[in-house]
Amino acid sequence: RKLTIIFLISWLLTIASVAGINHCSRPAEKTFSRQIAIDRLQEIADKAWKMYEVVKDTNLLPRTVRDDKLKLVSASDWTAGFFPGLLWYLYGFTSDEKFLTAAQRETALLHDQQFNTGTHDVGFMMFCSYGNGYKTTGDDNYKAILIQSAKSLLSRFNPTVGCIRSWDFGRWKFPVIIDNMMNLELLFWATKETGDSSFYRAAISHADRTLQNHFRADFSSYHVVDYDPQTGKVIAKGTHQGLSDSSAWARGQCWGLYGFTMAYRETKRPAYLRQAEKIADYLIHHKNLPEDKIPYWDYDAPAGEKTARDASAAAIMASALLELSQLLPAKVGEKYFRHAERILSSLASDDYFAGKDENQNFAIKNCVGSMPTNSEVDVPLIYADYYFTEALLRYLRIKEKAE
Ligand code: GLY
Repeated sequence: RKLTIIFLISWLLTIASVAGINHCSRPAEKTFSRQIAIDRLQEIADKAWKMYEVVKDTNLLPRTVRDDKLKLVSASDWTAGFFPGLLWYLYGFTSDEKFLTAAQRETALLHDQQFNTGTHDVGFMMFCSYGNGYKTTGDDNYKAILIQSAKSLLSRFNPTVGCIRSWDFGRWKFPVIIDNMMNLELLFWATKETGDSSFYRAAISHADRTLQNHFRADFSSYHVVDYDPQTGKVIAKGTHQGLSDSSAWARGQCWGLYGFTMAYRETKRPAYLRQAEKIADYLIHHKNLPEDKIPYWDYDAPAGEKTARDASAAAIMASALLELSQLLPAKVGEKYFRHAERILSSLASDDYFAGKDENQNFAIKNCVGSMPTNSEVDVPLIYADYYFTEALLRYLRIKEKAE
């Protein structure tokens, strides 16, 4: 009888240990740490420097990879500011003068864009390049160029609509896209620097109208809202880069999250913070969000192996969630910080982070530019590297503060 009991116990222990072994043999939960962030930043610096060596004798800037080659664009492209911006971040991280020289050179390519009144993207272009340059150096020439850029952006404001017009092309009368929230940062900055409140007033008007008209009951957003420029009434709500008019295009959702987080930082208006939290909750609890937290290119795209992810959306989301986590009481902010950490862990893993000399020296793989036009699908995109780098730097700052 004693023997039977011993046999039974040892049998149970064997079962338990096999279960334990099975548990351990599942892919380990990815972890993230300061050291991983630092290592990846160093690798991004190495890659960006190699990219700089390729472009430094041209007047062009890197955007993506096409036909296995680096795809360069002119300074008037909407993505032109991200490479200079990346170099400013890397100068901040490395303190290596070679990045300062490179950042100055690449930034100068955008000089004439300060007078570009033909697109809302002048905000992205100039604030990522000259804006980061000004924050780093305090250079008065940069300041003057940024103020002129803000004036160019403000020239697109229609008081009847209460918004800045996004695009001048296409079938719309007065298109405003969710991405446009990002451009408001330049306007907030301009009022702080000049004391002229017209920039600030236009920015909050735009944010309020976006809050009113771009969002659905579940806090997902339309990509494009078309207004009547004479009456200010909404004509239509739809998409340009999403799956359908009623779907949640992933990067657009993340621009909205980042935009309202930034707008709260700049204004302290509670409605913007509430909106950012609601968007964040929609994004992080969505049933279609894959386990590794890198969204499909559209939240309404069918979940599955074959559906492309958009790592650029994930990078923007991570950076925004890190900022949001610091604007909220610690207990509430914690969940956003933890989610951002999980995104960073995935982006820093070999699944999304390119190996040495791969990916034409972009860091992040698996992004989507525009699926409906089959353009830039499953490729690197310069803004994914920019926002991933920004997120890593934000992560390190938060960790430092906590220590
Ligand atoms: N702002 C353009 C895009 O996100 O594709």
